[in-house]
Amino acid sequence: MHDDVLAHLSHALTDRQEQGILRKLRTRQPGVDFYSNDYLGLASCNACHEMLLASLADNPQWLRGATGSRLVSGNSAFIVSVEDFIANEHQTERALLFPSGYMANLALFSCLPKRNDTILLDEFVHRSVLDGCRLSPGKKMRFQHNDLDHLENRLAKTPGKCWIAVESLYSMEGDFAPLGELVRLAERFGASLVVDEAHAMGVFGHGLVCDAQLQERVFATVVTYGKAMGAHGAAILSNQTVVDYLVNFAAPFIYTTGQPDLFAATIRNNYEFLKMNPGLREVLQNRITCFSAAGLPTLSATASPIQSIPFPGADRLTAAREMLESQSLFAFAVRSPTVKAGSERLRVSLHAFNTPAEIRQLTDLLKEFHDTE
Ligand SMILES: Cc1ncc(COP(=O)(O)O)c(C=O)c1O
Repeated sequence: MHDDVLAHLSHALTDRQEQGILRKLRTRQPGVDFYSNDYLGLASCNACHEMLLASLADNPQWLRGATGSRLVSGNSAFIVSVEDFIANEHQTERALLFPSGYMANLALFSCLPKRNDTILLDEFVHRSVLDGCRLSPGKKMRFQHNDLDHLENRLAKTPGKCWIAVESLYSMEGDFAPLGELVRLAERFGASLVVDEAHAMGVFGHGLVCDAQLQERVFATVVTYGKAMGAHGAAILSNQTVVDYLVNFAAPFIYTTGQPDLFAATIRNNYEFLKMNPGLREVLQNRITCFSAAGLPTLSATASPIQSIPFPGADRLTAAREMLESQSLFAFAVRSPTVKAGSERLRVSLHAFNTPAEIRQLTDLLKEFHDTE
């Protein structure tokens, strides 16, 4: 009965397989982690988990399911108190929690830009921002990655209200946005800047917007908790009006079951754990320095925990990944369509828990691989 649909699906999968870009779910293997976003190691940190378990023992009600949308039965005084805590930590007026960064970006971009608005997107912004924009009636236009002149040109030529979407630390490139210049440019043209801090949050304090005290000058910031914060979820940081608007109009917030209190408790716990262990960030920076010292050619900023090494062509990239895996070292092979065909790369994530010896083994193997090609 479904034969024609299944034939169509199989054809698309075979096509991917032939191009060497078929995605497959693989379970975590024992080995050295150079691929996760757990930059500070909080996701599997016993001391961090014990701190949470101790508070959970005193608060078993955190395990209660949310039971409904936050606008119906799914809100709690505890979740609201954690949002107040987050806003206070980031020195913003308000924070609104979401089950993931994907949902937060979907919420923001689907409901804020209006019909005659234009959203100017850095060409490398995350898929969640693009998907949010697809749901918006606004016009979408890309500008070249981190290219302020190109953005200025677009702003100068675009009538009406403009939104600008950037990441503070780019997830696949590992380079930083020029936040100060972007803020000044946005202000000059009356545009609203939205910054996705998924990969900077936790690694660089509470993110680069907060670090540079730009909270009042950006329209909104998205921070996520599933990466350096070792938990799950995200928050949109902005002012009271924006949060009230999202609560009223953002479908990804309204039409979904809220999170249990345990979700918010984990996030608060991990903020507190990190405040008690600021040395973790220094250890991470030290590991990044170990990697940089090897002098491999990367697309990334020196201080970034994401180091992307270009390996154009799916076959060569796969060979590099397999060579590393044969030594139980796991890095992420980034292929099309995640990045454009021809700009494939090996994405090495550095962590506070990677030892200098492991990093040296990785860089030596990659150098050897480059030399034999
Ligand atoms: C830049 C960026 N924004 C948003 C997200 C989505 O965040 P989450 O994984 O919490 O859905 C990601 C995740 O990969 C990301 O890299």
